Amino acid sequence: MPNPVFALLPLLFALSPQQKTTAPAPATPALTVIPVAAARMVNPITPTTESQAHAKNVYGIDCAMCHGAKGDGKGDPGIISDMSLTMMDFTNPDTLKNRTDGELFYIIKNGQGKMPGEDRAKDDEIWNLVVYLRSMSKK
Ligand code: HEC
Repeated sequence: MPNPVFALLPLLFALSPQQKTTAPAPATPALTVIPVAAARMVNPITPTTESQAHAKNVYGIDCAMCHGAKGDGKGDPGIISDMSLTMMDFTNPDTLKNRTDGELFYIIKNGQGKMPGEDRAKDDEIWNLVVYLRSMSKK
């Protein structure tokens, strides 16, 4: 016959409250993690002269103040310094070469770091912005 106290021990451990493990908050917010499925999305649109003219217009209103009218990262100096932004140069073909269209779409739609997301735009408009950004390094 086993001692009843020993028989109950595992049960006591099972019932004891679990240790709370709260990871310390990171000092700087991590970069947006882009879901794999989103990164693999293929650009479904065929850009037209009109849709690209529209993208250029949207870019001028919503993006140029930070990214610069030509995409060279030379946006409004006041905004860049007030927000301490480090801008990249989209006119350099190397800047976006390792990004998939799906990643660019995701970043433009949801924002990243200090960049706000273009969440009110229609998906077609965002895909056109992706095409427009890529065209900035082709001139
Ligand atoms: C308030 C300034 C600001 C505005 C407005 C803004 N961006 Fe950005 N954008 C940034 C900053 C800063 C980064 C870098 C973010 C990071 O990596 O922390 C960035 C990153 C990006 C990237 C990611 C590049 C990469 O490879 O990581 C893309 C694409 C982009 N912006 C496109 C756009 C488009 C298109 C618009 C307009 C719809 C826009 N941005 C509006 C500040 C801005």
